[in-house]
Amino acid sequence: MDAKTGTDGKTGTLKIGNKNYELPQYEGTVGPDVVDISRLYDEAGLFTYDPGFTSTASCESKITFIDGDEGILLYRGYPIEQLAEHGDFLETCYLLLYGELPTVAEKLDFDRTVTRHTMIHEQMARFYQGFRRDAHPMAVMVGCVGALSSFYHDSADIGDPRQRMIASFRLIAKMPTIAAMAYKYTIGQPFMYPKNDLAYASNFLRMCFGVPCEDYEVNPVLARAMDRIFILHADHEQNASTSTVRLAGSSAANPFACIAAGIACLWGPAHGGANEAALKMLVEIGKPERIPEYVRRAKDKNDPFRLMGFGHRVYRNYDPRAKIMQTTCHKVLAETGAKDDLFEVALELERIALHDEYFIEKQLYPNIDFYSGITLKAMGFPTTMFTVLFALARTVGWIAQWKEMIEDPSQKIGRPRQLYTGATYRDYIPIDRRM
Ligand code: CMC
Repeated sequence: MDAKTGTDGKTGTLKIGNKNYELPQYEGTVGPDVVDISRLYDEAGLFTYDPGFTSTASCESKITFIDGDEGILLYRGYPIEQLAEHGDFLETCYLLLYGELPTVAEKLDFDRTVTRHTMIHEQMARFYQGFRRDAHPMAVMVGCVGALSSFYHDSADIGDPRQRMIASFRLIAKMPTIAAMAYKYTIGQPFMYPKNDLAYASNFLRMCFGVPCEDYEVNPVLARAMDRIFILHADHEQNASTSTVRLAGSSAANPFACIAAGIACLWGPAHGGANEAALKMLVEIGKPERIPEYVRRAKDKNDPFRLMGFGHRVYRNYDPRAKIMQTTCHKVLAETGAKDDLFEVALELERIALHDEYFIEKQLYPNIDFYSGITLKAMGFPTTMFTVLFALARTVGWIAQWKEMIEDPSQKIGRPRQLYTGATYRDYIPIDRRM
């Protein structure tokens, strides 16, 4: 039996030219089998070529499973719908980190441990002063999370399981504090210290929207919505930022630096930055009458415009997170009383796109970012904070994946190869003889 889950001695045959190569095939618990090509270069002198990793499993993992055709997302086997409906974010964190849902005692202990790590080193506050007031908070996040490595040396030894766990608690606990400070800095308000008798999401809302001179009353509907948004974003298997964290970690870099790398990758508009881009697009569309114009542009091959919040590399069906997000959005709008025309524009855009031949044929459905922007806006967050909230929630996924990689005995540094199409060997020409 192979070390990987599943198949006993199953192989696939790959024919290249007139030669056959027997390649081991592994079976996951669900999802497609994989063919192990790791010895192909030794045996055939060939690399495989898969830009964008559309057909490549980069690792073995037990954390998150997506069936993109069916629109299924499971954390450790549990469907996202059930976790979002019945669980809370810290329970989800426990599940992702340890593999099982916690008992009451385990949950209490975990919540207490995370809560005790919510403060950041006082000197960290000075880092913020080095940024321009109008700096994008994601720029601040990349810098400040990376800077954690200079403060917490006692949890940066990745060979020590206890230190790995402490680093994980620290990152989950401190991200809301760092994120809220990034927000407060841009609006010129004093930083709010965490308040540890509040639950994770409530504490975050207070650090963002509270001020030292007044009591902050947590709105339970908004706190629940925030918590649910965190659950929905907690992990998503081997996406670009998670793969970045794994690749950075494969060189044995410290966990804080690895998570900073993940934040940098998440920032792009094709990934986590899409929530900001989707809201900007809805604002630009402005009213339902203008939707056909934007749909036409999205379909035009000569126009780079894309409908932000639509499409996904893995989901060829409705993103299950988008459905929950739509319901959450509705609840938040009802609670805040925000009469948001953008929600109407979003609903209508979704309706039109779902019936349009182009979107049907290319299997482009709304993704999580389509409704998250409207929800976060109604909660009072500026657009620049949207991706920050994504990063905050995804930290647990990144750290769980990072831990899994470090604890995998077959782990080695990630080092892809390439198809080289540049100049072949040539001799150096002194500058005075160059044409
Ligand atoms: N609007 C219009 N056309 C689209 C869109 C879109 N949003 N997305 C894909 N297409 C078209 C694309 O032009 C291409 O057409 P053709 O086959 O004629 O060249 C086809 O659909 C396949 O697109 P692709 O770019 O090859 O697909 P991909 O799997 O590489 O890209 C994606 C996935 C998410 C980057 C892309 O759908 C996109 O840019 N969407 C908008 C940005 C967005 O909402 N991103 C958030 C993703 S979910 C949150 C997260 O995980 O970060």
